[in-house]
Amino acid sequence: MSLDSILARIDADQPAALDRLCDLLRIPSISTDPAHAGDVRRAAEWLRDDLAGMGFAAELHDTPGHPMVVGHMDGPGPHVLFYGHYDVQPVDPLSLWDRGPFDPQLQETPRGRVIRARGAADDKGQLMTFLEACRATLAETGALPCKVTVFLEGEEESGSPSLVPYLRERGDALKADLALICDTGLFSESVPAIVTQLRGLLGEEITITGPRIDLHSGMYGGIAMNPIRVLTKILAGLHDETGRVQVPGFYDGVEELSPELAAQWAGLGFDEGAFLGEVGLSRPAGEEGRTGLEMLWSRPTAEVNGITGGYTGAGFKTVLPAQATAKVSFRLVAGQDPMRLRDSFRAWVEAQLPPDCSVAFAPHGAAPASRMDISHPAFEVARQALSAEWPGEAAFIGGGGSIPVAGYFKEILGMDSLLAGFGKDDDAIHSPNEKYDLSSFHHGTRAWARILTGIAAG
Ligand code: BES
Ligand code: ZN
Repeated sequence: MSLDSILARIDADQPAALDRLCDLLRIPSISTDPAHAGDVRRAAEWLRDDLAGMGFAAELHDTPGHPMVVGHMDGPGPHVLFYGHYDVQPVDPLSLWDRGPFDPQLQETPRGRVIRARGAADDKGQLMTFLEACRATLAETGALPCKVTVFLEGEEESGSPSLVPYLRERGDALKADLALICDTGLFSESVPAIVTQLRGLLGEEITITGPRIDLHSGMYGGIAMNPIRVLTKILAGLHDETGRVQVPGFYDGVEELSPELAAQWAGLGFDEGAFLGEVGLSRPAGEEGRTGLEMLWSRPTAEVNGITGGYTGAGFKTVLPAQATAKVSFRLVAGQDPMRLRDSFRAWVEAQLPPDCSVAFAPHGAAPASRMDISHPAFEVARQALSAEWPGEAAFIGGGGSIPVAGYFKEILGMDSLLAGFGKDDDAIHSPNEKYDLSSFHHGTRAWARILTGIAAG
């Protein structure tokens, strides 16, 4: 039977597949850093060439930002669109990496073999699982069982500024029966997962300005307003002592978890102590009275992602800075409107400004939460495929991160998405020493081969 021979081909081809992944990981495609624009393009070209080498009709489509990679291959079964992103997060702080972030290496760890590099898990290793599944299928059978479009984005980690205009202009060519998105994780080491809801995101950068120039803190300290003092007071007021966010109207429209979903999630047996223990913590820090999975998947949050201002270099400088800046983000759930929240957050900040201080806001992306319709028969196919590759039965879970494209596929192209990914909680995505387990890469590839075959079989 051809699925068996495809799976055997995948097994035999692992060393070469890992070499290919390493080649892609060597390209520092950091989308948010203009200095790396050429590298981002190189990663896109690498993927286009890899797709073309397999026989896809593959092209780069330029955008005002980074290019989209699009590949088409005809096939008999339903039409699926595969989405992944080839851009990666910045690497700083570089000093915390054990080796170069773009010098991938296979390593033995107590939990198994891993490939370590920026983007290994998010999302190059994951997107390559699908390409490797296509490669093995083509090598074994000479064709794909479904019509497949591959759509790879290079701006996901910087808020996807070109995505919506692109989908509006050229999305018709991407319209398929279903989108397959590989940018999420397993529920646990042994339990694979299909993500059925994701949080949205709103990013805001706020800069408070006080005096016209930086001041000597002896000459002016006491009489002059310090913008860091203003900023930190505002930020400290984001949450009350029970962990609730204080921006007016923040919880408007937020629904309680349905009893069915609450029961389903309770059945997952999430061990919050172990989850937090992995990262050196022990106590859930979200809203009082909520379960750990609610805090992660179904409750909205406000977080400060970075603060700058004043003197932060070596040694010491007695300065009252002219400006202080914070990057703040909100994870949103169904019912919350990112634009309305932006307005009320800005008004809330402005209302707290003392005399002589001004504030400037810079927007950083906004996407609503998304919920998947799981009625397409491919969900059952995927559930069985994942369950065949991991020890535990696949679970339908929520996700705390944001993958705005799923919402745009639905809104702009009327297309549902199936989110299956193979990352692990300890992959350190967005952090130093990011890695991807070779078992994730291998079983993920096998799972996609099963899914493509299964979808074609109906
Ligand atoms: N792969 C992640 C999203 C993710 C992480 C989903 C963990 C589920 C579990 C994705 O690349 C990502 O980091 N997205 C950003 C989106 C933002 C920059 C618009 C995020 O969630 O912060
Ligand atoms: Zn990602």
